[in-house]
Amino acid sequence: AKDPVRVLVTGAAGQIGYALVPMIARGVMLGADQPVILHMLDIPPAAEALNGVKMELVDAAFPLLKGVVATTDVVEACTSVNIAVMVGGFPRKEGMERKDVMSKNVSIYKSQASALEKHAAANCKVLVVANPANTNALILKEFAPSIPEKNISCLTRLDHNRALGQISERLNVQVSDVKNVIIWGNHSSTQYPDVNHATVKIPAGEKAVRELVADDAWLNGEFITTVQQRGAAIIKARKLSSALSAASAACDHIRDWVLGTPEGTWVSMGVYSDGSYNVPAGLIYSFPVTCQNGEWKIVQGLSIDEFSRKKLDLTAEELSEEKALAYSCLS
Ligand code: NAI
Repeated sequence: AKDPVRVLVTGAAGQIGYALVPMIARGVMLGADQPVILHMLDIPPAAEALNGVKMELVDAAFPLLKGVVATTDVVEACTSVNIAVMVGGFPRKEGMERKDVMSKNVSIYKSQASALEKHAAANCKVLVVANPANTNALILKEFAPSIPEKNISCLTRLDHNRALGQISERLNVQVSDVKNVIIWGNHSSTQYPDVNHATVKIPAGEKAVRELVADDAWLNGEFITTVQQRGAAIIKARKLSSALSAASAACDHIRDWVLGTPEGTWVSMGVYSDGSYNVPAGLIYSFPVTCQNGEWKIVQGLSIDEFSRKKLDLTAEELSEEKALAYSCLS
């Protein structure tokens, strides 16, 4: 039998946490043969609710779940973890300035970075979900210099999956037959969902999404805005932000990172830019990646037309601004 993997979920008493921890305990994230020990962190006002989640995990009697640590102590939470899913953060409340929200999250991610650096297992993989996800991940990277940058990522898989979902609905095909959409840039409304290289499985092989949809106006317009604005649409409908889809995407992200992407398929991950596709180096930016042996690699050599170029640059500019704002909060 395999040794258990320790998975940290911060903000575990929140909405996404509540959807995510049972998925992890059922093997959705790391596989049906991989035992796990869950580490759940939240803040003292949520300690009682967190304990309730722990009680439910016990009550669910998950065969793969070999232990639960529920704590408000960051060091205890981070100790020996192999995977860290950072869902906890300070939400933007009505009337709050962007700078104030940024400042709160910068201080959270700075201190949690240090705790992970000192106490997590060597080679711990980190996924930041909490918004502003890309910039929180960047702060975490900056303040955990001994964690290799290749081990720090942010979640844009939800946006990626939303794009797959929209194409599948439009073409009335199975979502599992659609692949290789790309989310470029920030997990925000400036993200660029790109279908220029996406395909659909057909009996004879594969066909380009652009050819099958045959409606560039929709693909360059409504499709993009629907994916960009999907989070807001969910809030409007549910009066709460996406949680089950975010939790599911977090599992997809880690599963593909650890176990690998299928041959010929890429996914979107927010990762540290090395300057690929002329995206400024030093930003956490969402790229198309393939994963093998626990490491991601940016897919190279995709053609970028003029329409796409503008959109890649626009979302990069927003991330540069966020980075500057985050740094201004440090001083
Ligand atoms: P929520 O408010 O229900 O839960 C957040 C939890 O984090 C709360 O239990 C809170 O007490 C906890 N928390 C706050 N500060 C903390 C700290 N310093 N350490 C540990 N825990 C802390 O929010 P929800 O709906 O679960 O969303 C969580 C985050 O995920 C939000 O920032 C949201 O914007 C983001 N999000 C990101 C998505 C993505 O695709 N990247 C998609 C959906 C949400």
